[in-house]
Amino acid sequence: MINMKKNNHNHNHSDSEIKSVSFEDMAMEYTDSDDTDFENRIVAPEYNPEDADTENPLRPQTLDSYIGQDTVKQNLSVYISAALARRECLDHCLLYGPPGLGKTTLAGIIAHEMGVGLRITSGPAIERPGDLAALLSSLNPGDVLFIDEIHRLSRTVEEILYPAMEDFAIDIITGKGQGAMSYHLPLPKFTLVGATTRAGQLSAPLRDRFGVVLRLELYSTEQLADIVERSAGILGIAIDREGALELASRSRGTPRIANRLLRRVRDFAQVIGNGVITCDVARMALDRQEIDELGLDKIDRLLLTGIIKFYGGGPVGLETIAAAIGEEAVTIEDVYEPYLMQIGFLARTPRGRCVTRAAYLHLGMTPPEQVGIPEQQTLFD
Ligand SMILES: Nc1ncnc2c1ncn2[C@@H]1O[C@H](COP(=O)(O)OP(=O)(O)OP(=O)(O)O)[C@@H](O)[C@H]1O
Ligand SMILES: [Mg+2]
Repeated sequence: MINMKKNNHNHNHSDSEIKSVSFEDMAMEYTDSDDTDFENRIVAPEYNPEDADTENPLRPQTLDSYIGQDTVKQNLSVYISAALARRECLDHCLLYGPPGLGKTTLAGIIAHEMGVGLRITSGPAIERPGDLAALLSSLNPGDVLFIDEIHRLSRTVEEILYPAMEDFAIDIITGKGQGAMSYHLPLPKFTLVGATTRAGQLSAPLRDRFGVVLRLELYSTEQLADIVERSAGILGIAIDREGALELASRSRGTPRIANRLLRRVRDFAQVIGNGVITCDVARMALDRQEIDELGLDKIDRLLLTGIIKFYGGGPVGLETIAAAIGEEAVTIEDVYEPYLMQIGFLARTPRGRCVTRAAYLHLGMTPPEQVGIPEQQTLFD
């Protein structure tokens, strides 16, 4: 474990104030309290079993009902129309972007718009080359095969995928040594839709075999409010526009979180209001769950205040932060940072992560004269 001694660059706080506690102690205290736990963060963008009942019914099935992501939609709609007109399969598509933005949903929409079947699997679920061979040969012509977390395919499985994507055929070798036999197995034509939160981890040969690469972006508050209203309609929940906007602004740009907050606040509206989610009801309910106006929860605040208190606002290395709050570095990168960077609260610099002035102010703390990075750089990706 990395030693979390106070950084000497910290001119911000007097020694006596912070000598006795470390970032880790502080993190420990937070996570020990009964209502904070990392697995069940309300504002975590990843799938949570509590989403199970509503996730599927809330998925839009057509491009028209898919809200936002305009560039992605426009491009896809051209490719789909062209493929339909030529009576061909759609090119293989790679969807990438942070969790909960609608990659799985989009795979379903592609199949629906193309009028073909959808088979769903994931990188870690395909353990051996034979599993993939069996799956591919069982497809109907034109089907969409959706592979979630495609960056987690093993090398040997990936190698089966190359000729399958390129030539719609696979070569299977059975047996060993002298008795080895090779079969050339033609496959039905299909469209591979791959999804990943980490496009950078995809091998170059795999990435190159996708004809269409689409990047999903975090949603705007207006778009999220539209999604909330649409979901409320499907679930029979009464909400007004101000209520929807209030939920949206605390949803961290992520539809999955917006839908989750909607369900949480619904119960609240039934108990304290007249069943309608208004701005006041939404605000009260989310304040009570300690999700602030920007959608930051205790863990985000812990991360930011930890960097401020123990590292003078940064720069501090990702690994150090990870060790302190007891999360994997990749989780911090994929799950916590995208939103904090999007709102300009955290910046990546070559020397590490820095908390920005805006974040100090949001947390009610006084920024030092010199924040770790110049103001204008706070939004770079
Ligand atoms: N553009 C959208 N319009 C309406 N609802 C959306 C949209 N995008 C996502 N959703 C809703 O958000 C939820 C999560 O979407 P989805 O499961 O497709 O995300 P994902 O990107 O596949 O996430 P993960 O990376 O965790 O697999 C779904 O219930 C879906 O209905
Ligand atoms: Mg998904």
